[in-house]
Amino acid sequence: MRIIGTGRAHPSKVVTNAMLEQFLDTSDEWIKERTGMSERKIITSEKLEDLATEASILAIKDAGIEPTDIDYIICSNVVNEYVTPGLSCIVQGKIGAKCACVDVNAACSGFIYALDMADDRIRSGKAKNILVLAAEEPTRMVDWSDRSTCVLFGDGAGAVVVTGGKGLIGSRLTTVSKTDCLYYVRKLEPTPYITKEENAGPMYMNGREVFKTAVLSSSFDIKRLLDKAGLKPTDIKYYLLHQANMRIIEAIANQLQLDMSYFPHNVDYCGNTSSASVALLLDELHRSGKLQNGDKLVMSAFGAGFTTGACIIEWNK
Ligand code: COA
Repeated sequence: MRIIGTGRAHPSKVVTNAMLEQFLDTSDEWIKERTGMSERKIITSEKLEDLATEASILAIKDAGIEPTDIDYIICSNVVNEYVTPGLSCIVQGKIGAKCACVDVNAACSGFIYALDMADDRIRSGKAKNILVLAAEEPTRMVDWSDRSTCVLFGDGAGAVVVTGGKGLIGSRLTTVSKTDCLYYVRKLEPTPYITKEENAGPMYMNGREVFKTAVLSSSFDIKRLLDKAGLKPTDIKYYLLHQANMRIIEAIANQLQLDMSYFPHNVDYCGNTSSASVALLLDELHRSGKLQNGDKLVMSAFGAGFTTGACIIEWNK
């Protein structure tokens, strides 16, 4: 597959570190130093489905096709107001597409998993044009009185359209069941028969554990992919890493012995937008004219599960 269109949508509310200082025992200095974040964009009156729709329409326009030319939609999403139907089904109706739809939840790695699934479907001949989107509102999963988590996240939606072509050089997905360092548990409706104990609560995260695992797994994935493709780290124009923390990005750059010019970032003004982060960044690069045909890009993400997904693509729009 190759990517032929991209799009993104952000919520309109910008929340700065100074605004967080007003109700949390935190500081602009702490947040910037430990995360690299200055502000994040957060859902207020918007619905995630509307951001997902806006991003999708932009990607389809950029691809130069019509919504009815899309023959499969894959949406990466962790939470939204609906448990069912899937967000992909809602977006399909809003953009006027007529095709099969599916949601995937591979946490923050979901966009890379969705791209990999799209490639399989195109290779098998079962689809021609696929809309792959990642729409996330992690700000609805955290406790807003917990300074160690709520400052980290932002919301947003990114989308791409893919079609047949030589754009995917390699991909690598891994999952290690390690559910105790990052999770969010919701309570289901009661029934007259439930006897088990049930828990619910905001997102739990062991930040230090996630930090270490993220740096090691992401740099390992990237090195394996480069080796397999016979490429040197400097053959890649940009590394689009999951935007969880600027220090994680710097640590991965260090592992690869590359300077930061290879690592574009939006974590500074978007926060961690879960699986949307890499898709948002890709659209930003494309629309600011930073990508030329033939450029090789690495995308790499990690998240709850623990999941990782990485791929090397050649930009060939
Ligand atoms: N403002 C001020 N102080 C804060 C704070 C905040 N927003 N959040 C935590 N602190 C405090 C802690 O309470 C702790 O205080 P103590 O030493 O008195 O106990 C101190 O800062 C250090 O906390 P620690 O958790 O060790 O900081 P850290 O350097 O590991 O940074 C994270 C914390 C969360 C920023 C960092 O661990 C991280 O980014 N982890 C990865 C998270 C991630 O990527 N999640 C998503 C995965 S998809």
